[in-house]
Amino acid sequence: MAGADVRVLTKRDVTWAVRLTDLENWGYTRADLERLLALEPLGCFVARLAGKRVGITCSTTYDKLAFIGAVIVHPDARGKHVGEALMTATLDYLDRSGVETARLNAYLHVVPFYETLGFRGEYENVRYHGKVAAGGALGSARPATPDDLPTIAHFDSFYFGARRDRLLARLLAEFPRTFLVARDEGGVRGYIVANADGGSAEVGPWVANPTMPEVAGDLLHALLARLGPAQLGLTCPGPNEHHARMAVELRLETAFRTLRMYRGRDAYHGLPGGIFALAGLEKG
Ligand SMILES: CC(C)(COP(=O)(O)OP(=O)(O)OC[C@H]1O[C@@H](n2cnc3c(N)ncnc32)[C@H](O)[C@@H]1OP(=O)(O)O)[C@@H](O)C(=O)NCCC(=O)NCCS
Repeated sequence: MAGADVRVLTKRDVTWAVRLTDLENWGYTRADLERLLALEPLGCFVARLAGKRVGITCSTTYDKLAFIGAVIVHPDARGKHVGEALMTATLDYLDRSGVETARLNAYLHVVPFYETLGFRGEYENVRYHGKVAAGGALGSARPATPDDLPTIAHFDSFYFGARRDRLLARLLAEFPRTFLVARDEGGVRGYIVANADGGSAEVGPWVANPTMPEVAGDLLHALLARLGPAQLGLTCPGPNEHHARMAVELRLETAFRTLRMYRGRDAYHGLPGGIFALAGLEKG
């Protein structure tokens, strides 16, 4: 049988793509996939085998750094080098875009797949979830406005390792109620965003100066005050030394771990100690 052909994913593929990711219970909504597509219109791909759609990948670029995610092949088409064809197309696109470092967050059992493609391990992330009832005052945190975005993006780049202006602008436009910033006369101290839908919320990015962990705590409590009781999900980088204590305080459970991996230049590390929640496994 001939191998898979790969083309750019379009809006017309989104309904089918959500159903595909539902097979792994990833919880992606249409809005989540449309956001990925809007951020990288030419960097999300569909693989077809004998004319039938069987897999997808999405990439998000931040200048010379990129994250690859939502890598999935339909169970019936696995083991036929479809995943490899999707990853090759995505990496070719990133090369053409001038990306120097490609990263991803791999489920631990899938690490060998990425190793065969040249990715190397960096550190583990911990995925937490749980029902949280706590709330608090807005305190020093307040809803962000478009005027805050350049300073937030500058602050964020120090910890993330690259500027994420487009992502942050998109998140503020979509989630103005749950995008909070803490700043004082010294500048931005931290910010938090939640993708909230009914009683559940995906938290992240959540970034704060790790030498002032009380700022991260204030941001979270201010967010919870806005959300009310909610089922939270968030992914914390292992090098953040505060997350285990916060998870205990909030009674969150560990769902699983992923390995952050990179390919290309070993650069754009940022300071993961200040990242309290990723923007998402697929976006970094
Ligand atoms: C991971 C996934 C995308 C791989 O797609 P696939 O089309 O089955 O993989 P391929 O056939 O292209 O595999 C390419 C190579 O990687 C190897 N490989 C694939 N999955 C592997 C795994 N889980 N563990 C070890 N090796 C693996 C294959 O054996 C093959 O090696 P070979 O060239 O020596 O034969 C697919 O299994 C999948 O959709 N899994 C569920 C979703 C998921 O977990 N995605 C990853 C999120 S991080």
